[in-house]
Amino acid sequence: MIEVNNNFHLLPVSYLFSEVGRRVAAFREANPEREVIRMDIGDVTRPLFPSVIAAMHEAVEELASSSHFHGYGPEQGYAFLRDAIAEHDYHNRGIAIDSEDIFVSDGAKSDIGNLGDIYSRECKVAVMNPAYPVYVDDSVIDGRAGVLKDGKWSRLIYLDCDPENNFLPSLPEEKADVIFLCFPNNPTGEAISRPELKKWVDYARENGSLIIFDSAYEAFVRNPDIVRSIYEIEGAKEVAIEIRSFSKTAGFTGLRCGYTVVPRELKGTYKDGTQVALNSLWNRRQTTKFNGASYVAQKGAAAVYTPEGMADVRKATDYYLANAALIRQTLISKGYKAFGGENSPYVWATADNGEDSWNLFGKLLEEYGFSTTPGSGFGSKGDGYIRLTGFNSRENTEKAMSKIK
Ligand code: MLT
Repeated sequence: MIEVNNNFHLLPVSYLFSEVGRRVAAFREANPEREVIRMDIGDVTRPLFPSVIAAMHEAVEELASSSHFHGYGPEQGYAFLRDAIAEHDYHNRGIAIDSEDIFVSDGAKSDIGNLGDIYSRECKVAVMNPAYPVYVDDSVIDGRAGVLKDGKWSRLIYLDCDPENNFLPSLPEEKADVIFLCFPNNPTGEAISRPELKKWVDYARENGSLIIFDSAYEAFVRNPDIVRSIYEIEGAKEVAIEIRSFSKTAGFTGLRCGYTVVPRELKGTYKDGTQVALNSLWNRRQTTKFNGASYVAQKGAAAVYTPEGMADVRKATDYYLANAALIRQTLISKGYKAFGGENSPYVWATADNGEDSWNLFGKLLEEYGFSTTPGSGFGSKGDGYIRLTGFNSRENTEKAMSKIK
């Protein structure tokens, strides 16, 4: 038998959302008469936009005709989509990111993990605590996390977030090589202002660090003082990679399409000190291990940038934001402490009575019939909290909230 990657041995048995799904399924099986409303994973419920559907129909027709058929596309993504992203998400907002800096993919989650291929195994990784579990689990799989002790991985640097610091972590005292930042944040739902994010860009510039900025929820930002892209901060192009997704903005969680920006200005060094652009390493990695996102999905994604598509993004994100606002207000009115839910689809809440996250998860499921995501699954600082998503339908959100006593 072959020897396997021992790092899997170190990981918790299942991924957070698989564990939540397992417990919800077990509850349903034990209580077939009970309705369960899913307020846990951030999965969208609004259908695809008419402009996206029309574009995908057209793409399928093209692939169905021998004169228009084509097979493999560019691994970096089709120019029609990269150009639309550069124009609408960056140039029109005064940010100089070009198509060559943009790599289309099948979504943010895969890119977050795959990026680990281009920085050294020796890199010290910093993560917010709590954080989207993919940053930590991927660091474990790649052998950068060390060993788990008292709920923390020995080689990771934890950036603690709590109500005392408004869920905005302080700069690390030791040097972090790679820093995962996510704003608007998953799970806390809190967002970041330009002066606050500038501190991180300055830190990265002074320390030669790389920031991986997960901006999957930027379309939910309504406050103009809140950052949507890290490249709004001067100097960020030399230190940051940005990850975006069509999942939450245009309902692509099942369809799959996202993109990663690796500016050509961003450099690293090999062991011998030779400088190299991370853009060329990522290009090498993608051309070797990836054959591009599906043509049909990319055609659908490009339609998101038509006037109709952009109006629909606004409508869909407004809809989910209204759900999040309802969740937040209801929880506060029932005596919970609740955060986020403004400029973000997630609400982060605690009963503030010392009860641990999985107990709270179980109690809400049992008593009120809705599932949440236990905060401890996002890191030790999440214990005592639960995360609720605004991505369910209005009807289900209202129903779930009306059950809280
Ligand atoms: C979440 O619930 O945190 C997200 O839906 C997970 C994801 O985007 O992969």
